[in-house]
Amino acid sequence: MINAPKGTKDMLPSESYKWQAVEKAAKKIAALYNAKQIRTPVFEHAELFLRSIGDSTDIVNKEMYIFDDKGGRKMALRPEGTAGVVRAVLENNVIETLPQKLFYIEGVYRYEQPQAGRYREHHQFGAEFFGSALPCFEVELLGLAHDFLREIGFNDLLLKINSIGCNKCRAQYNAALREFLSGVHDSICGDCKRRAEVNPLRTLDCKVPSCQEIYKNAPRISDYLCDDCKAHHAAVLKGLDDIGIKYVEDKNLVRGLDYYTRTVFELCDGDMAVLGGGRYDGLCEQLGGKPTPCVGFGCGIERLIAAAEAHGVKFDNPQPKVFVAAQSDEARNTCLKIVKTLRDMGVTAECDLMGKSLKAQFKHADRQGFVYVMTIGESELSSGVYSLKNMNSGEVISVNAKDLSAIKDL
Ligand code: HAM
Repeated sequence: MINAPKGTKDMLPSESYKWQAVEKAAKKIAALYNAKQIRTPVFEHAELFLRSIGDSTDIVNKEMYIFDDKGGRKMALRPEGTAGVVRAVLENNVIETLPQKLFYIEGVYRYEQPQAGRYREHHQFGAEFFGSALPCFEVELLGLAHDFLREIGFNDLLLKINSIGCNKCRAQYNAALREFLSGVHDSICGDCKRRAEVNPLRTLDCKVPSCQEIYKNAPRISDYLCDDCKAHHAAVLKGLDDIGIKYVEDKNLVRGLDYYTRTVFELCDGDMAVLGGGRYDGLCEQLGGKPTPCVGFGCGIERLIAAAEAHGVKFDNPQPKVFVAAQSDEARNTCLKIVKTLRDMGVTAECDLMGKSLKAQFKHADRQGFVYVMTIGESELSSGVYSLKNMNSGEVISVNAKDLSAIKDL
């Protein structure tokens, strides 16, 4: 037996309705915001991720699936969605007209230590908005995230929000953080010693508990924001207040990717981040495009489904409608014709394809959750009147063979 790779999960037929409900909600809400879908390759030149996510991040340093292709090019499976979308948008001039609002639903690959809610392949519903430096851009994006979760029936996530400033205020903050880190140098982990030199901000999302304890006393970025960044942050919060989105300010939130500027946020269920994102005004330019302010988020679908179910959300699981059971072999062709007619009307229908007995067909229909079973035998074929049994109530109704459209409205 060959098993699934460690850290991956099959989406089984018994669960696919949950994924379909999430994807349907994502597409419905994205359309209401006039966001268009984008798909990018599952692999890209590894360089793209080094240059965007940052070579001091765990994602790039420890977690990328990286390989040489047969032509000797260094490639990587995408460890997140934003870099590929920005690359595609620049390469195809999608941002000639602004703003552009894009969304995606895709697999993401990170070589992590698998545990609850942490996989090596996970899936994200993500949105990336290109073009505006105004605070209303964050508000619009968080509005989409909020409406998406509400559509699923899930309003219990806590929005944590912070500003990590722009390059100008970050320089001063980095200097203060470096000074703090040199004072605790002997007590922090080896990774943090390296981070302290390359990119001190990265130390703050170290997962080692003793480091986390030490960083509780680290200087906070919020004390170093320039006036423009402070005003921007206040305007984002005011915009959220105005549209009734609740949040808490989390001054320790820095996120694990290097491309963010100013606003960063996470929607959490307890300690588990279900959705995260922020503003990334420098990334387009960094990847060779025109300076273009952007905001975006990624929502982990596995985590979202688990958190929603833990909070009692029931995903829409439509029942199939009519099973057409054959009482005799002569009736089987008629059953095939009836299911075709029903499907042409948009009614979910199935008939026996296994040569089962009538009793076994009823059992199958019941297990599959069909609402009605229509039995076709000699008397139905001669009378042209079919009876339908409601499998929930036991009630039996008759329909005329010439008027199957009546079933549509049942
Ligand atoms: P991220 O926070 O790394 O951000 O991932 C977004 C979401 O993906 C997380 O909140 C979490 O729900 C889910 N996730 C991440 N890693 C795993 C994992 N190993 N197993 C299961 N779920 C996971 C990004 O990826 C950014 N690209 C978000 C973004 C878009 N920022 C701007 N635009």
